[in-house]
Amino acid sequence: MNPAEIDFIESKFLSPCKIKPEKCSESFVLLIFGGAGDLSRKKLLPALYQLFQHKSFKNFSIIAIGRSIRSEKAYRTLIAKAVKKHVGKNYQKSNWDRFAKHLFYRSYNVEQQSTYDDLCGLITQHCKKNRTKNVIYYLAVQPSLTVPIIQGLSRQHLCREKQHSKIILEKPFGVDQASARKLNQKVLRAFDEKQVYRIDHYLGKETVQNILFFRYANTIFEPIWNRDYIDHVQITVAEDVGILERGEFYEEAGVIRDIVQNHLLQLIAMIAMEPPANFTANLIRNERVKIFRSIRPITGNKITQQIVTAQYSSYRREKNVAKNSLVPTYFAGKFYLNNRRWAGVPFYVRTGKKLAKKSTQIIVQFKIPALKMLGRTCDIMNPNKLIFQIQPQESITMQFCVKQPGTLNVPQPVLMSFDYAKAFQVDTLPAYNRLLLDCMQGDQSLFARQDEVEAMWKVVDPIIKHLAHKRKISTYAAGSWGPKSAEQLITKDKRRWINA
Ligand code: BG6
Repeated sequence: MNPAEIDFIESKFLSPCKIKPEKCSESFVLLIFGGAGDLSRKKLLPALYQLFQHKSFKNFSIIAIGRSIRSEKAYRTLIAKAVKKHVGKNYQKSNWDRFAKHLFYRSYNVEQQSTYDDLCGLITQHCKKNRTKNVIYYLAVQPSLTVPIIQGLSRQHLCREKQHSKIILEKPFGVDQASARKLNQKVLRAFDEKQVYRIDHYLGKETVQNILFFRYANTIFEPIWNRDYIDHVQITVAEDVGILERGEFYEEAGVIRDIVQNHLLQLIAMIAMEPPANFTANLIRNERVKIFRSIRPITGNKITQQIVTAQYSSYRREKNVAKNSLVPTYFAGKFYLNNRRWAGVPFYVRTGKKLAKKSTQIIVQFKIPALKMLGRTCDIMNPNKLIFQIQPQESITMQFCVKQPGTLNVPQPVLMSFDYAKAFQVDTLPAYNRLLLDCMQGDQSLFARQDEVEAMWKVVDPIIKHLAHKRKISTYAAGSWGPKSAEQLITKDKRRWINA
């Protein structure tokens, strides 16, 4: 039976919630390498425009660097279209016109040293104009260009020597632990770790951050947040879309490098980490890295017992995908953490493309209580569940049991929910907005540190290596919840996936 729903937060109690004023940034000069690319058009420029509209900053220059030769006017027109499309009703022509005055475009070959001679002059000029030393380099380019760009900047003394400069790196950070380490060494030859912002946009999602607030800003959950009370945790990152136009990238990455090594492991960390001594970047990141290091290695025959991978049935017909590709688009796994809080508690995780719907959800399922003591009819097993819905809606729901009205002693599950949109009546900040602002202000908490990235690779490397020897891969129907074997992974433990 579906639990009855109680809308716990009545707006008359809490609304309007007092929203504290948003953070503001100082002035800055932002260079976006790959400034006309997909990420810039879909995420970065719309985020920057929205931040500007929210008055998060005033004095700034955004210099987009791209391969194609186009005028500044043509670039602004291109971005205006993209911003309009992505911010929807929040687009205001008058604000756009003011924003566009801060937007510049330069066409460069980033593999030529002369580019950086020019950039040096350009940066000095824009820093002067905005009276700032705050320079940010955003690398929204293919991974093979990361090192040439860093070396180019470094030769012009635009990195460590410019103490206020920062660099934002997009994933993937390498393709395995060894390459990530090498990449990190090269990055850290030019910059100090405190200047480096490795972005994982899942950490910028409001409901992901809320996991820590939910745990630590309340007294009632932490005491039961452990193996004594929690039966298991389920994490689902389901997408309804396929690989879209990213065949080339996806053939190299596959689901493990694309989602598991970063977003999924970060979600495990948010649920499992110990409270940091305080909320500063390095202490938070220390706790996250401890979780990655405590994940019990899945190697040898444990891989076949604990991991399921599959490919959606039409994958091989996608553009730029090999006709005999064995690249997985679906992953389900069972992880254990070797630490005192979580010993023996399985973390079931799954993610995939072309699944039944887009939904990112974390379910913390508690142990079954001693129901029989309530009478002979009390054998319905409905343990408490906490459901963090991360997207598309943003909510937290608690399932608990009450007595069914009437003469029978029957417990019935009901739901208490908190919904961000209803309770706060404001749009939550998209992940990139929050992360860009944090970087401008020098807050690294929501960015992955070097050791985190390497520890995450260590978890997935043996799995990727093992799969590389496989000669075939099972398929699943587009629009389903994945292959049967993923179902069995959890049902053999007498549990079941809960589909949003
Ligand atoms: C990206 C992956 O990191 O995250 C994409 O490269 C994926 O393949 C995307 O589609 C999912 O992000 P979100 O925010 O839509 O869940």
